[in-house]
Amino acid sequence: MTLYWNQNIHTIGIKHLDEQHQQLFETLSRLHDSSHNGTIETEIPKIIDFMEDYSKKHFRDEETLMQEYNYQGLNEQQSEHAKFIAKIEEFKSAYATNGATINLALTIHNTLSTWLVEHISSLDRTMGLFLLEKIK
Ligand SMILES: [Fe+2]
Ligand SMILES: [Fe+2]
Repeated sequence: MTLYWNQNIHTIGIKHLDEQHQQLFETLSRLHDSSHNGTIETEIPKIIDFMEDYSKKHFRDEETLMQEYNYQGLNEQQSEHAKFIAKIEEFKSAYATNGATINLALTIHNTLSTWLVEHISSLDRTMGLFLLEKIK
């Protein structure tokens, strides 16, 4: 399964958050490609670091907006975001122990893709609808 951005399903309507989601999707598809074209050795460590930094920034941006507008779903979002970061930490230690393997590349891709699609189309969408009402 490769990850594709689908405007209709994945857009939440807050431009900079949509762009960040897209960036996360693109990075995960690059990881998927790397498992087919022999570049995992160089790509896995770069992508793990990027996903960690970029998703932290993305979650911070979302949480700041939710705080600003007193969004009721903030706690649930925060605990879900923490789970995503914890998964990345697990992948980091798997990489430190076993190095770059195709299995690790695919596990990272599948786990984080599934989480993202699910999170964006449920919690982020609901948050987006709320914020759009407040911001306009
Ligand atoms: Fe998000
Ligand atoms: Fe979120």
